Order: sequence, then C-alpha cells, then structure tokens
Amino acid sequence: MKIVVLCGGDSPEREVSLVSGKSVAKALSKNHKVFKLDPVKKDFHKKLVRIKPDCVFIALHGGKGEDGTIQGFLETLNIPYTGSGVCASAICMNKIIMKKILIFHNIPTPEFVLVERKIIPEIPFGYPCVVKPASLGSTIGISIVENSSQLKTGLTKAFRLDREVFVEKFIKGKEITIGIIGNEKLQVLPPIEIRTSRKLYDYHAKYKKGGSQHVIPPEIDKKFLDKASDYAIKTFKVLGCSGFARMEIIIQENGEMFILDVNTVPGLTPLSLLPDAARHAGISFESLCEKIVELGLERCAKN
Ligand SMILES: Nc1ncnc2c1ncn2[C@@H]1O[C@H](COP(=O)(O)OP(=O)(O)OP(=O)(O)O)[C@@H](O)[C@H]1O
Ligand SMILES: [Mg+2]
Repeated sequence: MKIVVLCGGDSPEREVSLVSGKSVAKALSKNHKVFKLDPVKKDFHKKLVRIKPDCVFIALHGGKGEDGTIQGFLETLNIPYTGSGVCASAICMNKIIMKKILIFHNIPTPEFVLVERKIIPEIPFGYPCVVKPASLGSTIGISIVENSSQLKTGLTKAFRLDREVFVEKFIKGKEITIGIIGNEKLQVLPPIEIRTSRKLYDYHAKYKKGGSQHVIPPEIDKKFLDKASDYAIKTFKVLGCSGFARMEIIIQENGEMFILDVNTVPGLTPLSLLPDAARHAGISFESLCEKIVELGLERCAKN
C-alpha cells in the first residue's frame, strides 16, 4: 500500500507529533511504501494529491489534526484515513460538549460550571477546582485554583487562550489511562496508572525524562479497573470514536471514578501510553500501526 503519515502540524504538540510520525513511518515501512508529510509545509496539498495514498495515517496531536479539520479535508478528497471521523474528533476536542454527552449517557465526569467572560462564577463544589479552556489540550491554560483570587487569575489566563472556558471539580485520586482499539468490535488494552510528583499530569510530566512513571498493572483494586474499562468502552461508543483512542480516568479511594479526557490521536511514540499498553497486551508497535491502518480502511469502506 501507499501510506502517507501526517505529522508535525501547528499545534503545541508539534514536536511530539514529529516523533510519533517518525516512529509510525518506520514501523509501516516494513510492508508499505511510506511518505511523511507535514500539513504546514508548502505544497502539502499538491504533494498529497500527487501521491494518491491508499490511506493517510494521522499522527497529528491536538489542533487541526485531532479536531476533525484534517479529517474533513481528507473526506473531501475521498482519501481513507486512520482514527476517528470528523464528528467524533470534533466532539472529543471540545471538553464541554464531550462532558454533556457523557452526562446524557450516565457516564461519570467531574461536575463543572460554564463560565462567561468577565463574570466570576459561584463554585457549587468548592475549592480546589480546575479551570480549563474547552478545546486546547496538552494541559495548556489549565490551572488548579484554591480560592477566588486564584480563580480570577486562572480564568483570565484560560480566556486568553479559548473562547469557551469551564471550571471543574478537583478530583483527588489515582489517574489511569485506558487505550481502546477497534471499530465495532473493541479491544480494551491493559490500564496504566500514571504517577507523577507534579500537581498535574502536564507536558513536563509527560515528555520530560523522569516526569512520570507508567505503572502496569495499576496498584488499584481489580474490580475498580474492570469498571473503568467498561466506562472506557461506553465512552468510546457514545462519542462515536473509531480505530483507537485513549481515555483518562481518575479513580478515588472509594472507587468512585470520573472520565477526564479522551484523546483521539494519542501519542504514538514507542514509549507513549497507548503503545506501551498495547505491548503489554502482546501487540508490538508495528502490529499496532498496521492494525490502526486496517481499521481506518474498514471504517472508510463502510462509509
Ligand atoms: N478535575 C480534575 N481533578 C484532578 N486533576 C485533574 C482534573 N482535571 C485535570 N486534572 C489533571 O490535569 C491533567 C490534564 O487535564 P486534561 O486531560 O483535562 O487536559 P488536557 O489539556 O486535555 O490534557 P492532555 O491533552 O495533556 O491529555 C490531567 O491528566 C490530570 O492530571
Ligand atoms: Mg488529558
């Protein structure tokens, strides 16, 4: 097959995407003719059309690569691509819309309030709480705030970056992540507990050496992990995801748990969370990349 791997892009996760793209291209080049393209480079569109790929592997994290924009662009060109379609990508990128859908389906997500610019909201769930821009990612613009003066500062910062901002209840607990692969028939990968000494699992914790640890299996009661896996599958389905995705979940000591975030193009370096979970399930990085391509082709064929 001719496969174009898209990586780079103009989101804050550009550097990680370049590493994901390089790893994916290397893995796929064993069996396919692979071309790497960066959508921000000159003549990207022309090159893509000239190559006429059988499939585009989207290894763009955040921004236009993960929010449905690139997906829509490929739809108009009738080029099959990996991962979720336009609608699911857009939903998962906007945390407010995502949370409303989860609530509609009785899937727990932390309580939240919507905020209007220049209005300091009442916080029904008290402090600490978390200020978040609706659509960013990479923990950019997120602050944990302890009082109303910090809330004000957090809101100003978040509104500088996004038109939509919300405040979420802070959940104390262990953070796990669950990867899922599949279209209709879903495979849940082993949960990974993420440990970091930082307050948030932020960019530094994720990508800097020693910033975080992956604990597999998590040191958490198995019945809680099974429940988390059920929620992860349900979340994948109700949001309409396909191919693969990685959910972030916080589990409190009493077993109550909340879906925090869904990544439709999670990190794809061999050391990233989803590939690490796949390896623990006996799926090599190469097989994972092949599988993601197969699932992309399958979804596009059905459409
Ligand atoms: N309500 C919360 N309670 C406790 N911790 C939280 C809460 N919301 C976020 N965090 C912490 O902040 C991190 C980033 O939050 P979140 O995943 O919502 O943002 P993000 O910008 O989409 O992150 P990324 O794109 O890096 O996955 C979480 O992984 C978690 O460590
Ligand atoms: Mg997150």
